[in-house]
Amino acid sequence: MNVYAVPLDQEGLDVDSLEALLVEIQPKFVYTIPTFHNPASTTLSEMRREKLVSLAQEYDFLLIADEVYHFLSYTEEPPPPLAEYSDQAEQVVSINSFSKILAPGLRLGWIQAHPKMISRLVKCGLLDSGGGLNPFTSAIVQYLIESGDLAKNIRQLQDIFQQRQEAMSTALDRYLPGIHYNKPQGGYYFWVHMPERDTVQLRNIIHKNNIDIRPGSLFSSQKGLNDYLRLSISNHNPEQIETGIKILARSMQES
Ligand SMILES: Cc1ncc(COP(=O)(O)O)c(C=O)c1O
Repeated sequence: MNVYAVPLDQEGLDVDSLEALLVEIQPKFVYTIPTFHNPASTTLSEMRREKLVSLAQEYDFLLIADEVYHFLSYTEEPPPPLAEYSDQAEQVVSINSFSKILAPGLRLGWIQAHPKMISRLVKCGLLDSGGGLNPFTSAIVQYLIESGDLAKNIRQLQDIFQQRQEAMSTALDRYLPGIHYNKPQGGYYFWVHMPERDTVQLRNIIHKNNIDIRPGSLFSSQKGLNDYLRLSISNHNPEQIETGIKILARSMQES
């Protein structure tokens, strides 16, 4: 597989760069995380969503939108999932998961797409032979959806994560005033730029103090992003987040 990277900016995927690439290559598919991107936390603007879908139609590629963070919005609602534009282009497929809104490890998700695309998928060999649909877990989750408990859980998660997000933002501003990040509107991640820092080296240093980060290079297909790091709010409460950032700042001063 030949993988081509397309740059992102504050408004998400740079659709003009993608268009320039499409003139040169004919991809089988374009994969993107339109909402609360992992790791950059960006959300694709409505204008760019329209353009991306029209590019899928014009250049006839499958557009796969990984929407796992769509429901984890803490301030304002994000634009609709890309599949809601599928009346314009049948080849738009939104994939989603219950991992982030119910429980990781369930191994259950869903696909939203144009009915013609769904019937193509349903006829594929794997599903046709009964494989991979996880029917027992699906029945349990169906019950949770119909009873309203899933919606209740999502509201609780939004409250919990909003508090963690505030805690992370306050701690970064207080203990690491020289760094750059955009406060995310949802999802799990803070994508932090530390100019002139090698974040792989930084990780080795902070491991001694029992904290961890994800160096930016893990998210680069071109061995770049060495001066970025990803922080997550998914697993720690506000006090732990503050303590972690305090230790990070102290470790940086000592190194
Ligand atoms: C963008 C994105 N897609 C998918 C997943 C994983 O979903 P699942 O647990 O359903 O495999 C993650 C988890 O980190 C993710 O960040």
